[in-house]
This record gives sequence, structure tokens and C-alpha cells, in this order.
Amino acid sequence: MAANFDPVARWYRFLEMAAFGGALQRCRIALLDEVKTAERVLIVGEGNGRFLEALLQSNPVAKITVIDASQRMINLARERVNHSPRVTFVHASLLDAATAIPSVDLVVTDFFLDCFNESEMYLATKRLRGALENGGRWLWSDFAIPESGFMKLWSRTVVALLYDFFRLATGISARRLIDPHPRFTELKMNLIERRVLSKGLLASALYEVK
Ligand SMILES: C[S@@+](CC[C@H](N)C(=O)[O-])C[C@H]1O[C@@H](n2cnc3c(N)ncnc32)[C@H](O)[C@@H]1O
Repeated sequence: MAANFDPVARWYRFLEMAAFGGALQRCRIALLDEVKTAERVLIVGEGNGRFLEALLQSNPVAKITVIDASQRMINLARERVNHSPRVTFVHASLLDAATAIPSVDLVVTDFFLDCFNESEMYLATKRLRGALENGGRWLWSDFAIPESGFMKLWSRTVVALLYDFFRLATGISARRLIDPHPRFTELKMNLIERRVLSKGLLASALYEVK
């Protein structure tokens, strides 16, 4: 069963700003310039629509499908983009085999894969990779743990607190942050570009099908 973000949807932006200021949004849009010509886009777990709004502004051609398991998040995103006719919202879980996944040239996951345990992450990434043809791209943003130093300790602490909160508030299955990069390699995706923000606590990366 998918996590339920309905209870936190209204507060999500406030909580994000209180905890991280504008850092998460800077991370989401760090590589936005690289995807402004994508034509068919799938965003999964978009949440309240802040990346979606930025993508619509920077990319004048994209037709976008948003799949999210939270109806309240979808409502907020739809309002944020003024019911844009370029966006189709689908209220469904990516993990549900009955959820149709469209073929696209860009997949976007922002702070989404971190909701999953190992087996769910495996399934979610398999399904999303299946949406991409040759040359297709995947824009990923999320928390990260630096390899060493004080920031490693700090990031681990921040991420552990986040997991405690979101496991209680939404029922996510993840207990720890899984580095998805080995999985991208396994799925035959090349890293095109990676940006690290907030001294390593946040990262954004663009991958392309080999
Ligand atoms: C942590 S929030 C991230 C929201 C936003 N992308 C961001 O950058 O802050 C996770 C989002 O993924 C959605 N979600 C969680 N599990 C899902 C699933 N199995 N299928 C589709 N959406 C899911 C939640 O409803 C929520 O909107």
C-alpha cells in the first residue's frame, strides 16, 4: 500500500520552508535548464506542484503526466498551475500494477524514491525505466549522505529525523536512505550531470538511457 501524504499535504510547504528554507526548491530546479526541450514528461510523486510550476514556465512545449498517490497533493498542484491544460493528473500509486505508465522522453522524481524500502525502490525504478526509450532522460533530486566529515554526521542526523517524522505521519516504508545510483547503472542509465547542494545534504542528477 502506498504511503498516505494527505494528512501532511497542507503543511508540507510550511514544514519544508521551516526546515530547509529555499534549499529543496533550489535542488529540484538545479538542472531545469537541461530539460527545457523535453516534450513528453512523467513526474511521479510531484507533491504540491512547485517543480511542476517551474517546469511549465521554463519549458513551453512539454505535455506532462503527474502520477501521485495523494489526492490532496494533486489538488494543491492543480491549483498552483491554474489547471494548466498541458498537465494530466493521475491519482494512483506507481507501485500498483494497474497504474498505466505512459511512454515519455523525461521522467522526474524529486524527493520521491526516498519514500521506499529496497523492494519498492526496485519495483518503482523498474516501472519508470520502462517508460523511457533510447535517449530518454531521468531527472532525480533527493537527500544524500556525503562520504565523510562533519556533513556526513549532520546529514545522517537530519535524514534520520525526517524518516522518523514521515514514517509516523505518512506511513512510508523506508527506514533508511538508499543511494539510487547503483540502481541507475543497473538499469543501463548514464550519468549526464550531477549537482550537489547544501554541502552534500542535497543532490540533483540527470541520467540518460545508454
Ligand atoms: C516526500 S513527497 C515529495 C513531494 C515533492 N516531489 C517534493 O519534491 O517535495 C512524496 C510524494 O510522493 C507521493 N507518493 C508516495 N508514494 C507514492 C506512490 N507509491 N505512488 C505515487 N506517488 C507516491 C506522495 O503522495 C507525495 O506527494
